[in-house]
Amino acid sequence: MRLFFSLWPSEEVAARLGEIAATQAEQFGGKPSRLETLHLTLVFLGEVANETLPRLIEAARTVRASAFELDIDHVGYWSHNRLLWAGSSTPNPALAALQEKLAGALSEAGAAPFDAGRPFAPHVTLIRKLPKGRVPPAHIPVEPVRWTASGFVLVRSELSTSGSTYRPLAGFPLLPVAE
Ligand code: 2AM
Repeated sequence: MRLFFSLWPSEEVAARLGEIAATQAEQFGGKPSRLETLHLTLVFLGEVANETLPRLIEAARTVRASAFELDIDHVGYWSHNRLLWAGSSTPNPALAALQEKLAGALSEAGAAPFDAGRPFAPHVTLIRKLPKGRVPPAHIPVEPVRWTASGFVLVRSELSTSGSTYRPLAGFPLLPVAE
C-alpha cells in the first residue's frame, strides 16, 4: 500500500483552493487537481506492507497536538517538477510541531517517513506538470483562505492512468483549543 498522512480540507476550503487553482490554470495552463484530491501532506510513507498498518495507526494515535488555523495566502511554483502549489507565506509553528510529532512517533514505531531528514515543505498541489511556456513567478500572493485543521488522516493512494485516487483509512483528531 502506498500511504501518507495528511491534512484534509473541508469542502468549503477545498472549493476556495479549487478557485485559486482554476485562476492559475487560466493564466499558466495545465489541469487543476480535482477538488476531492486537494490535501496537505504531513508525512509521506511510500509503499508499506499491509501488516504495518495497525502499527502506523497506533503510533499516530499517540500524537498530542492542538487544532490550529492555517492561512493559505500564496501560490508557489517549483520548476524542478513543474508543480504549482498553494501554501502559507509564513511558517506555521503549530503545523510544523504536528508534523514533527507525527514523524517522530512513526519513526519510534519503526515506520520512518519515506524521506526522513528532508525538510518539511508544506504545500497543496494545485497543478501538476504545468505546460512549458509561461513560467509562473516563484511566489504569487492570493486572497487568504483560512483552513481550520482539527484533525489529520491516514490516506491510501492508488495510482492509475487517470490519476491518483485517495482513500482515507483512519482519522486522528487534534486537541480542541480552549476558547
Ligand atoms: P505532491 O503533491 O507534491 O506530489 C500523495 O502522493 C502525496 O504524497 C502528495 O501530497 C505528494 O506530494 C506526496 N508525496 C509523494 N511522494 C513524495 C515524496 N517522495 N516525498 C514527500 N511527499 C511525497
